Order: sequence, then C-alpha cells, then structure tokens
Amino acid sequence: MSSDGLSNGDHTGVVRRITCVGAGYVGGPTCAMIANKCPHIAVTVVDMNTAKIEEWNSDKLPIFEPGLEEIVKKCRGTNLFFSSDIPKSIREADLIFISVNTPTKMYGKGKGMAPDLKYVESVARSIAEHAGGPKIVVEKSTVPVKAAESILSILRDAQRTNNTLAFQVLSNPEFLAEGTAMKDLANPDRVLIGGEDSEEGKKAVAALVEVYSSWVPRERIITTNTWSSELSKLVANAFLAQRISSINSVSAICEATGADVSEVAHAVGFDSRIGNKFLNASVGFGGSCFQKDVLSLVYLCESLHLNKVAEYWHGVIEINNWQRRRFADQIIAELFNTVAGKKIAVFGFAFKKNTGDTRESSAIHVCKHLLEEEANIAIYDPKVEEKQMRMELGLTTSDDKVDKLVSVFSDPYEAAKDAHAIVVLTEWDEFKTYDYSRIYESMVHPAALFDGRLLFKRKEMESIGFRFFGIGTAPNHLTKVGFAAPS
Ligand code: UDX
Ligand code: ADP
Repeated sequence: MSSDGLSNGDHTGVVRRITCVGAGYVGGPTCAMIANKCPHIAVTVVDMNTAKIEEWNSDKLPIFEPGLEEIVKKCRGTNLFFSSDIPKSIREADLIFISVNTPTKMYGKGKGMAPDLKYVESVARSIAEHAGGPKIVVEKSTVPVKAAESILSILRDAQRTNNTLAFQVLSNPEFLAEGTAMKDLANPDRVLIGGEDSEEGKKAVAALVEVYSSWVPRERIITTNTWSSELSKLVANAFLAQRISSINSVSAICEATGADVSEVAHAVGFDSRIGNKFLNASVGFGGSCFQKDVLSLVYLCESLHLNKVAEYWHGVIEINNWQRRRFADQIIAELFNTVAGKKIAVFGFAFKKNTGDTRESSAIHVCKHLLEEEANIAIYDPKVEEKQMRMELGLTTSDDKVDKLVSVFSDPYEAAKDAHAIVVLTEWDEFKTYDYSRIYESMVHPAALFDGRLLFKRKEMESIGFRFFGIGTAPNHLTKVGFAAPS
C-alpha cells in the first residue's frame, strides 16, 4: 500500500496509480486525458527536466495544445500530478508509461537513421532500480521492433536478485497528432496494445485495456503481439508520410503541365479506397515523427538485409527533401535569380498550424537555403518564439553575420513591409484573414507571393497585383504549353 492508501497492485489488479516518465508532447497530453477520463486513477507525470515540471505546475504550460490547459487546470492537484521525484513515482505506480524522446541517432552506428534509445534504456534502468514490486511497463515512445525485448532484459535482470519484482512490458504506441492531440485522445480511431503471449502478458494487456475502456469503445481497442504493435506504429507513420510524398511528387507534374494539384487530389481522393484525407500538397512534411520513423523503418529493413524495401521507403524521405529544395530554388529563380540583400517575409515557422513545435519543420530548410543566398528574412509566426527560431536556424551569436540577416516580427504587416516576397510555410488559418491589398501596397514591386501551403487562390492574389507561385499550380502561361518529348 502507498501512503494514500491506493494499492501498489500487481498485474491482475485494477490499475490505480499510473506514472508516466517523460513530460513532453506525448506524455503530457496523454496523461492529462487519462486523468480526466479516469477519476479513480492517480496519474503522475515525471521528467528529469525539473524546469519543465515547474512549467507543468505553473499557469504557462510548456506546450501549446488546444484544449490541454483546461483539462490540466481541472485535474491538476486532484488526480493529475507533475513531479521531479522519479524514484518515488516509480515505486508507487502500478503501471509505468515510458514516454521519452527517441530522436534519430546523431553518432556512431546507425547515425542519421536509427532511433537513439539511450533515454528509453535509462528509464528502464531507473524502473529496475526503484520498482520495489511488480509493475506493468508500457512503451509509449515510438521504438524499433523488438525494443520491448531489450527493456525486458534489463528489468528481468533486476528480478534475478530481487524476487519481489515482476515485470510485464507492453507496447502501446501513441497516434495523436499535434494540434489535435486532445481530440485524438478523446476520440481515437483506435488504441493499440501489444503484449506477451503468456498468461501474465494477457493479464497485463487486460489491465491496460480496462484503463482505456473508461472512454474508448471496446471494439476500437486492438490487442496484438508486442512486435506487431511496435511495427504498426512505424508503418502507420510511414504510410502517412508516403501519401504526402506521393501528392508532392504529383505537385511537380502539375506545375509543369497546367494541372492543379488540389483538383487532382480531390478527384483521386473521391475513390473510397484511396480516401480524401492527408492529400494536401505542401512544402514538405515536418514534425518530430515522420522523418524519424521512416528512417527507423529504413534502418530496420537494412539491418534485415531487405535492401529493396529499404530503398522503397527511403524514397519517401528523398521526395520530401527534394520538395523543400525545389520550393526554395523556385523562390530564388522567380526573384530574378538573386535574393541577396532582399527582404523576404516568411509567414509561419511551425511544422504545421496550431502548434508552436518547430521540430523538422520545412521552414527551417527553406530559410536556411535563403540565408545561404544572403536574403534578409523577416519571420512571423503566431506561436513560435524568436529564440526557438534562432536555435533551429543554428544562429547562436548575436554578432554573427548570418544572425543579422534574420529578423523576427510580432506583426505580419510589419514583416511584409518593404519585402520583395512573402513565403508561406505554415498553414495558419489567420494567414487567410489578412488584408493582402494593404500588404501588397507596403511591399517592393513587383511583389511575389510563394504559397507553400495552398492557402490562397491564384486569381484573387493576381488580381491584387501579386506575382503568385503556388505548390502544384501552374502559372497561366504554362497551361498553354503543349506536349513535349521527354528530354
Ligand atoms: C504525426 C501522425 O499524424 C500521428 O499519428 C503520429 O502519432 C505522430 O506523427 P504530427 O507529426 O503531429 O502527427 O502531424 P501531422 O498532422 O501528421 O502532420 C505532419 C506533417 O505533414 C506536417 O508538417 C503537416 O503540415 C504535413 N502534412 C500533413 C502535409 O504536408 N499534407 C497533408 O495532407 C497532411
Ligand atoms: P515526445 O514528443 O516523444 O513526447 P519530448 O521531447 O516532447 O518527446 O518529451 C520527452 C521528454 O522525456 C523530455 O521532456 C525529456 O526531458 C524526458 N526524458 C528523457 N529521458 C528521460 C529520463 N531518463 N528520465 C526522465 N525523463 C526523461
């Protein structure tokens, strides 16, 4: 029994106390939702970053996610706790989520491809050290297939010297998308739980199923073996990323022929076998998951000597990088082949709307390319802070020459004033509401608008006076071009 009388439990009992290690984009929102939907469960989120925990306990949460603040404020201090006392929280839990980051490894074997599992391993070691009794350990972090086995080896080693310990490791990948995390968690397409095919494994799976059953219909909770669950997460992200690379590859054909990528996506997506979601052509996908998970899948295939399969999935990443570069090159070409010394307004730096997250944002790549050409870039984003932008662009010293090429604005009209072009890199809804006649008048003419997110209608922008360049839409003169033999 713990100090407040709640049971420490075993694999067969009802889960009463959950600890989540990792208070990031996955751990924070997931645990807030569990606390909200399961008032009978005490949920504690811990992190080695004490400043982050202080923020979770303050009025300004460390991450922005629509609907999150309301739930945290409602549950915090009742059955939702944020703590830096990792050993105590591990000891008192019946079930422990591992929700730490698994970034792409930047050193040694698998550099630039494999996920770095050092954080997952360190949590496994902390659990082995502080558990003090039976625990269900749940991988939430996206991990390579068979990672559960490594976690289990560490935990079972501790069991050898302490027979009061007993562990089950489950895989329960998170499918939430940033910006819609709370909606995704409240009403998930599915919850996936993978576990060991043994009596104890089934009991552990049943215990976690029971937690989710508080609000998720039972038929949407899928249970599989551990490896299927781990692989499904990688494959789901790879399929989603592949769709974007597919439509982005088509956007290039559209620009060269006069077809319109939105019309093509609409027509193709009408086929119910294909479906109409995730077919928005763009300057390329960003975010912490897609690139990392596709690379992880590629690395897995290479490790299994499935080189053709690895090559196939690597194409998804290649098209994404090509699309970013293609867009940046087009900006330079259309601004008369030189952007040096020209002010270019960048609208949007986050990797997508409704988030302040900039990880792997295509904006970083496009801005870096423009900076290499010595453009003066003036960035406006409604949520991303200046220091975050500078960090992502690798600008650390204030007297650095490149540093001076970047200015950050809190008003989009000021960002666009005296600019030669506006470059739209994030699909924030507010970008559609501005007075573009006023913006156009304040710019250097001819003024260009590069729409990397298909927010605007060519005709409307051209009637204001803009030279308009949209991903997957051809300038009018191109629609008159006939067939040409491949060169
Ligand atoms: C993704 C998955 O959707 C989620 O299930 C998984 O758990 C984590 O990874 P997330 O990265 O938060 O979620 O965002 P998502 O909405 O998938 O967008 C990823 C990137 O693709 C963004 O840069 C977005 O702008 C881009 N995108 C998305 C497109 O370019 N076109 C589209 O049609 C959809
Ligand atoms: P994700 O998007 O996967 O949630 P984040 O980077 O937002 O990733 O969050 C992961 C969190 O995990 C970070 O706040 C980090 O400090 C925390 N973390 C990493 N390793 C450990 C560890 N060994 N113990 C506790 N917290 C950890």
